[in-house]
Amino acid sequence: MKENLSMADVLRWYLDSGVEETICDVPQNRLNEPALKEETLDQNSIASTVSDATQQFSAEAEILLHNACEIAAGASSVEELKNALLNYGGCPLKKTATNLVFGDGSPKAKIVLIGEGPGAEEDRSGLPFVGPSGQLLDKMLASIGLDREKVFLSNIVFWRPPGNRTPTSQETNLCMPFVERLMELIDPEILVILGGSAAKSMLAETAGVSRLRGKWYNYSTPNLSRPVQATVMFSPGYLLNSPVHKREAWQDLLMIRNKFESLGLN
Ligand code: URA
Repeated sequence: MKENLSMADVLRWYLDSGVEETICDVPQNRLNEPALKEETLDQNSIASTVSDATQQFSAEAEILLHNACEIAAGASSVEELKNALLNYGGCPLKKTATNLVFGDGSPKAKIVLIGEGPGAEEDRSGLPFVGPSGQLLDKMLASIGLDREKVFLSNIVFWRPPGNRTPTSQETNLCMPFVERLMELIDPEILVILGGSAAKSMLAETAGVSRLRGKWYNYSTPNLSRPVQATVMFSPGYLLNSPVHKREAWQDLLMIRNKFESLGLN
């Protein structure tokens, strides 16, 4: 049955179906793309095709990673690192993002905060933590006498994962050399990791935040002169949805303030 749908009906239907971002200017009909050639493969040839493809895939991933490491290592200031990322096309997330979300704050900060990834408002503005979770983060920082001038904020990935999904390990692996270089160039005293997936990338810790929080870890990279004192907190986005954890977040903030004071940084 053919219905007469208004533009508003069509848009509503898109939203109900989960289409909330436009990626290309022109629609692309994937059904018209050439179908895969059908071949009859026996078990052995399937196994060898899969093994060839896996080897080729890991060789390509290694080249991409090597390339990211070289580009990141070439940056000798935070500004140069941002420019290197603006020109970097290796991470697939760049293709679906509107803007690079590099970081915000002072490159001389003694505290760096690293989150899980930009959301929709960060993607639109090109700045980290500007949406509702950013507003909560600003209040959390203010509660211990800090603000965006005194810290540096960034994420484990520099482009928004579509639909706010968790970034894949390939995406985080390709951004990690730039995050590590950022840490080396800022050389802070304290690193605050916001959220479980950020903890996994930064500290290789796979436990949940409830298990990881409230402690200090050593964060190292090959070129940091000494390990940075790192701690893990619930991400502000998680706290907005689960305010019951705000009490623990407050204890974590006090622990960070004590560390800050004991290092003579206030
Ligand atoms: N949450 C994050 O982890 N990072 C942002 O930039 C915004 C929200």
